[in-house]
Amino acid sequence: MTAHIIDGKAFAATLRTRLAAEVAAMAARGITPGLAVVLVGEDPASQVYVRSKGRMTREIGMASFEHRLPATTSQAELLALIARLNEDAAVNGILVQLPLPQGLDEAAVINAIRPDKDVDGFHILNVGRLATGQSAMVPCTPLGCLMLLRDHLGSLAGRRAVVLGRSNIVGKPMAQLLLRDSATVTIAHSRTRDLPDLCRQADILVAAVGRPHFVQGDWIRPGATVIDVGINRTDDGLVGDVDFDAVMAVAGAITPVPGGVGPMTIACLLANTLTATARANGLPDPEGLTP
Ligand code: GUN
Repeated sequence: MTAHIIDGKAFAATLRTRLAAEVAAMAARGITPGLAVVLVGEDPASQVYVRSKGRMTREIGMASFEHRLPATTSQAELLALIARLNEDAAVNGILVQLPLPQGLDEAAVINAIRPDKDVDGFHILNVGRLATGQSAMVPCTPLGCLMLLRDHLGSLAGRRAVVLGRSNIVGKPMAQLLLRDSATVTIAHSRTRDLPDLCRQADILVAAVGRPHFVQGDWIRPGATVIDVGINRTDDGLVGDVDFDAVMAVAGAITPVPGGVGPMTIACLLANTLTATARANGLPDPEGLTP
């Protein structure tokens, strides 16, 4: 058996085409969605991400505002910028690229963003809204994984899902989204016992641990759907958290790295910016972009 390869790159491209059409429709009403991205310091991976976010934002017709600040920026200076962006009517979405340089208080910075402009979905109010089933801004990477899962599997109700990793950015919100779709969800992490046995029970396995080729072929239930969120830079290039070749032989479907979840993250950031813009202008949520 060989797994179906879930083409996140193609799915993301189709999604961006649809978003561009929605942006054009908003432009006809005199509305231009705007996304502000804030990068503090010079982390090389973050610089790459921020550049592609800006490019793709402009490509679909949205306004992109990039703010690059030195690593020496103080907490007060960063908070002052966020306060300005919160007040700026041309800015519908605000993203502060993480991780922040040492000395800056990440939680305080995130919670200073207006919740309705928090296109990352990291503000404590959005986290709480997601957890309680209320209308929220939803973190981009798990939202992208959810779209791929629904597209491939249809209903997720009753399926056994194991999420590997408990980060605020991926693992925890992923678990919330799967639960909201009535999957039976387990969150596993570095202290979980008998991890291979647990993974073998999963119909859906989402790997977000940041360890290259961590998930082995014999951890996979035959026919399972495997979502690989890992982006690990190794001597062999970019690899996921899943041993792709071994898992391919057992799984029913798998996302590749690169070309799987990665492209979905930015497409969902743009989707969230569109949703935030619609809400700011009293328009209904664009269909299919929110869980
Ligand atoms: N760093 C790694 N992933 C993300 C993300 O999704 N959003 C932000 N703001 N920073 C990140």
